[in-house]
Amino acid sequence: MRGHHDFIIVASFFLLTATAADAAKTNAADFTGGHSKLSGIIIPGFASTQLRAWSILDCPYSPLDFNPLDLVWLDTTKLLSAVNCWLKCMLLDPYNQTDHVECKSRPDSGLSAITELDPGYITGPLSSVWKEWVKWCIEFGIEANAIIAAPYDWRLSPAKLEERDIYFHKLKYPSSHSPVITFETALKLRGGPSLVFAHSLGNNVFRYFLEWLKLEIPPKNYVKWLDEHIHAYFAVGAPLLGSVETIKATFSGATFGLPISEGTARLMFSSFGSALWMMPFSKHCRTENVYFKHFSAWNKKGHQAYHCDDHEFHINYSGWPTNVVNIEIPTTRGEEAYPSFIGAAPVNLSDMDYAFPTHESFTAREVSDGTFFKSISDYDPDSQRLLYQLEELYHNDPVLNPLTPWDRPPLKNIFCIYGIDSKTEVGYYFAPSGKPYPDNWIITDVIYELEGSLYSRSGNLVDGDPGAASGDETVPYNSLSWCKNWLGPKVNITRAPQSEHDGSDIQVHLDVDHHPEMDIIPNMTRSPRVKYMTYYEDSESVPGKRTAVWELDKANHRNIVRSPILMRELWLETWHDTHPDKKSNFVTKASRGPLRDEDCYWDYGKARCAWPEHCEYRYLFGDVHLGQSCRLKNSSADLLQGLHPSGWKMERKALVFGVVKRMRVYKSRGRSSTIIFGRQVR
Ligand SMILES: *[C@@H]1O[C@H](CO)[C@@H](O)[C@H](O)[C@H]1NC(C)=O
Ligand SMILES: *[C@@H]1O[C@H](CO)[C@@H](O)[C@H](O)[C@H]1NC(C)=O
Ligand SMILES: *[C@@H]1O[C@H](CO)[C@@H](O)[C@H](O)[C@H]1NC(C)=O
Ligand SMILES: *[C@@H]1O[C@H](CO)[C@@H](O)[C@H](O)[C@H]1NC(C)=O
Ligand SMILES: *[C@@H]1O[C@H](CO)[C@@H](O)[C@H](O)[C@H]1NC(C)=O
Ligand SMILES: *[C@@H]1O[C@H](CO)[C@@H](O)[C@H](O)[C@H]1NC(C)=O
Repeated sequence: MRGHHDFIIVASFFLLTATAADAAKTNAADFTGGHSKLSGIIIPGFASTQLRAWSILDCPYSPLDFNPLDLVWLDTTKLLSAVNCWLKCMLLDPYNQTDHVECKSRPDSGLSAITELDPGYITGPLSSVWKEWVKWCIEFGIEANAIIAAPYDWRLSPAKLEERDIYFHKLKYPSSHSPVITFETALKLRGGPSLVFAHSLGNNVFRYFLEWLKLEIPPKNYVKWLDEHIHAYFAVGAPLLGSVETIKATFSGATFGLPISEGTARLMFSSFGSALWMMPFSKHCRTENVYFKHFSAWNKKGHQAYHCDDHEFHINYSGWPTNVVNIEIPTTRGEEAYPSFIGAAPVNLSDMDYAFPTHESFTAREVSDGTFFKSISDYDPDSQRLLYQLEELYHNDPVLNPLTPWDRPPLKNIFCIYGIDSKTEVGYYFAPSGKPYPDNWIITDVIYELEGSLYSRSGNLVDGDPGAASGDETVPYNSLSWCKNWLGPKVNITRAPQSEHDGSDIQVHLDVDHHPEMDIIPNMTRSPRVKYMTYYEDSESVPGKRTAVWELDKANHRNIVRSPILMRELWLETWHDTHPDKKSNFVTKASRGPLRDEDCYWDYGKARCAWPEHCEYRYLFGDVHLGQSCRLKNSSADLLQGLHPSGWKMERKALVFGVVKRMRVYKSRGRSSTIIFGRQVR
């Protein structure tokens, strides 16, 4: 099988890069061991791992009970028929993160744990985010044991993940008593390092793993271990400075499209220790270096100071586009206008008048340092829990305070990938609703960023400082693009259309100056209606290391891992990296032709298949429309015959799906495709 993979690499590389190979020398960031030795480790995002029951729970008034190994997250049938019962299996104790006394759930293992999330019932954003990804891997001949999922209980705070499930330990060490395949096993099994694909919260998990590893490995071996085990890290949709939506989920509930009320969603989300992991924070505030403390035998449990530098107090909004949360208290108040909530002490009106003028705004720093939660403690019974979790699970974490900006980890190759220029929530106005907890807040206004400007749902004018672009619908641009700080002082920028292109609409600026802490924005044009992908690349600033940032216009936070454009770029870059004769540091962007039959389509204007040099009209029995009959030419593969003695065609046969396709070609040869074509056009 090994030879097959190698050939596919060569062929595809040649196909797409032959036009513009530049003469730059390759460097130490290479992995020349060959494509077939690599494995891919997938760390999914929030709510993207299946959870199964580990208890027997009778659900009164419902025919459906929970039995061990029953799906809890996500079985929408059970959710709909027995919501209270289902909640028992989902909720954790808000303080000590233990399971409900009657039901406990645990994450599933293996690839199916992240690819099968009730695909039948909910077609919304939650279902099977990674399925398409795995399909690509199979289609391109990647062996099954080379794709590894690292599912986790996304309800837990990072320290609890280790304490309860020894998650980080299992991710590192080979283990005889556990079926989990991880970094060290992958190296043993396949002889090469891993590619890490993390999505959304999975990036926070991976960051914590890298910090945890520092305490696990002698300092002099740390970078060596990373070099041996991790070839490249693909950070997809990483909320590097948090996400403002977390505030909405914490105070008013975000249902993720589930058939539950916002109040129930809030109750559930609030019980998870992971809830604060994605809170927005300021890039100017840090905690003392835990790593250093560890080795100087400092009292690890002691309070760790969260310290902000001067910048924080000289800028507005903590460097975010606007204040992330605003609380409005009506000025004319009767007793009834106040929130009444279960278990709360009677409210002293004059105190509240004092604590709250009519309107108070909070920056990202004031959210992450607890100021905001303290300020609303008279209004919200949940604020005590939030303060407790913030302190115990985040600021005082013995490994890392996750609510601090992440400096570039010392990995060889980093690709930070995210969508931009979608409408993304960057601020909220809340007011007391007069209802009891968990429905005690209503959102009175929402501030959005969109393509470099801010606007509000209400139409009110917005004070703020919008960034050059907007976020990916879930995470704001300033948080996603924090990884641009990982680029060095000179950056090569390329902008190319996302769709297949011949290289005519491509803009390249070499060695653009990049100032630390400043956003780097190319002075390049965009034509309307074209979606671009902008690549920022640096292979110079740190010898032997490469950093790239890919911005995809309009790519959505959750769907980006399903995007064929992203898959195409990942494949090309990976092939390029492992190609022994490569000429440039990164794969060329000069042109993009079709890679799969699916990429060939009918060009109605020209009345033929688009990309005639790569695609041809080839009707196969069962095709319903013209575009389906446009298929990759085998002549473009024939071109490559000379390149490799065993030939492209034979190799394509070896592909899992290739065999099937070829058989169908032979069967349908008797039909005249031109007649079919003529008939369909008329
Ligand atoms: C966690 O908290 C719950 C309720 O507050 C309590 O019943 C339980 O004993 C606690 N568990 C541990 C391990 O502390
Ligand atoms: C902060 O906002 C105030 C009022 O809008 C403005 O006058 C000031 O220039 C801003 N400061 C910075 C550093 O942008
Ligand atoms: C309410 O606050 C006022 C002024 O701070 C104080 O005099 C009064 O005793 C308080 N009442 C209650 C019930 O706490
Ligand atoms: C951007 O490029 C255009 C044309 O290439 C040039 O006229 C303009 O001055 C540039 N702007 C900046 C800020 O560099
Ligand atoms: C930019 O590209 C050129 C040509 O490929 C290369 O020589 C140079 O090292 C690149 N610069 C950076 C910062 O990677
Ligand atoms: C592919 O190319 C070979 C040799 O050029 C040819 O014999 C064969 O018919 C082609 N297959 C199709 C489906 O066009």
